[in-house]
Amino acid sequence: MELVLSANFDVPNSHQIAVYESRGGYQAASKALAMTPEQIIDEVKASGLRGRGGAGFPTGLKWSFLPKDNPKPRYLCINADESEPGTFKDRKILEKDPHRMIEGIIIAAYAIQSHTAYIYYRGEFCDQGRTIDAALAEAKAKGYFGDTCFGHDFKLEIHTHRGAGAYICGEETGLIESLEGKKGQPRLKPPFPATHGVFQCPTIVNNVETLATLPFILTQGAAAYAAMGTPKSAGTRLMCISGHVNNPGVYEIEMGLPMLDFINNQGGGMRNGKKMKALIPGGSSTPIITAKEAETLKLDYESMAEHGTMFGSGGLMVLDEDTDIVDAMRVLLRFYAHESCGQCTPCREGTDWVYKIAKRLSEGSGTEEDIKTLLELCDNMEGKTICPLAAAASMPARSYVMKFKDEFLAKVKPTAVPAGAR
Ligand SMILES: Cc1cc2nc3c(=O)[nH]c(=O)nc-3n(C[C@H](O)[C@H](O)[C@H](O)COP(=O)(O)O)c2cc1C
Ligand code: SF4
Repeated sequence: MELVLSANFDVPNSHQIAVYESRGGYQAASKALAMTPEQIIDEVKASGLRGRGGAGFPTGLKWSFLPKDNPKPRYLCINADESEPGTFKDRKILEKDPHRMIEGIIIAAYAIQSHTAYIYYRGEFCDQGRTIDAALAEAKAKGYFGDTCFGHDFKLEIHTHRGAGAYICGEETGLIESLEGKKGQPRLKPPFPATHGVFQCPTIVNNVETLATLPFILTQGAAAYAAMGTPKSAGTRLMCISGHVNNPGVYEIEMGLPMLDFINNQGGGMRNGKKMKALIPGGSSTPIITAKEAETLKLDYESMAEHGTMFGSGGLMVLDEDTDIVDAMRVLLRFYAHESCGQCTPCREGTDWVYKIAKRLSEGSGTEEDIKTLLELCDNMEGKTICPLAAAASMPARSYVMKFKDEFLAKVKPTAVPAGAR
C-alpha cells in the first residue's frame, strides 16, 4: 500500500516547507493550476474519494453541487474542529504535515473557483493553530497563494479562525454560523451550504484529511487512488485507535482491512492479555459492535453498513472484557447532553433526560422501566431535529442497550412492587 497521508509523519521537521518540498510537496498544486477546474473535479470524482469528516459523501460530487450561474463569491471552509470523541487524526496532519493540507486547500479552492478559504480549528488546538499560521506564512511567501498562485492569475487568501471548544461547531452549518461571529448553532436545511453557506454565499465545507488526500490524487492520478481499497471505499484513510489496546495511535490503512487484523497488528492487540468485549468503530456517535460481530467487520463503508454501524470519523475505541457497558454509556451520554446546542426540544431535553437515566442505571438505582423509557426517548430524538447531534447520541445508546441488555438488567434496582401486583 502506498502511503497517501502519513508518509511524512515520522520525518524530522516535516511541518517545514523545505522538508515538505524536498519530498515532492507542492508539485500537485502547481500541476492543478495548469489544469481547468472541471478537469480537477473530474479527477477527484474518478478517484472515488469520500469525505473523511464523518458522513463519507463523495467529494467531487459535492463540489459539483455549487450553482453554475450564481455571481456571488464562493467560499471554502476547512473543518479542523475535530471534536468527535475517539478521533484525533486531523490533529496529526496539522502538527506533522500542515503543508499537505494547505496544498489540498489550494487545489480545492481553484477547482471550485473560491478566492477565500477559512480554516476553522477547534479551540483546544493552540499549538496546532500556531503551526498552521507559520506554514501558511511560508507558503504565501513562496507565492503559492495570495495575489497569484504559482504565477497563475488566480487570487486566493487563506484565513484561520479558532473556535471556542464546542463540539457542535464541527457540524458544517454550526461552523459557518460561528465563523460569521454568531452563536455556533446549526442551520435548518435546505438551503444547503452549496447555495447558502458563509455570508449566504455558495460554500464548500471539507474535512482536513479529505483535503490532505488531494495532492496524491493529482500527482499519482485518480486511477492509482481508486486501485486501493474497495469499489465503494476507495483509497486509504487515517484510523485512530484508542482504548484497551497496546499501541493506541493514528495509523494509515487501506480500506477493506479486516478489523481484527488492524487491532492485532497496528493496535498491538489487547492490553494485558484481556479479551475484547466490544468496539466503537468510527467515533462516539457510531453504534457499538460486539466482539463476535467484529470478527467479520472490515474497515470500509460497505462492511460498516452491513453490520448496522458507521465508519464515521475513523475513531476506533476498543473495550475489554472488564468494561462496564452501562457506565460507558453514561459517559457517552454526558458528553452529548453537555454539547447539545439547545435549539431543538427533542435534543435539548432528550439528551439530558437519557443522560440522567443512564446515570441512575450505572449507579444501580435505575429500574427496568427506566430502560424502556430510555429506548422510547431514543426513538423520539431521531429525525426530529435540526442537525444529527440528537441521533448521534440516541443511535449508539440504543445499540448499547440492545446488544448488552443483560448487563443493563443486572444493574437495575429490584422492584419494591410484588411481582403478582405488576
Ligand atoms: C454534530 C456533528 C459534529 C461534526 N463534527 C465534525 C468535525 O469535528 N470535523 C469534521 O470534519 N466534520 C464534522 N462533522 C461533519 C460536517 O458536518 C461535514 O459533513 C464535514 O465537515 C464535511 O467534510 P467532508 O465532506 O470532507 O467529510 C460533524 C457533523 C455533526 C452532525
Ligand atoms: S439537534 Fe441538538 S445540537 Fe443539533 S441543532 Fe438541534 S439542539 Fe442543536
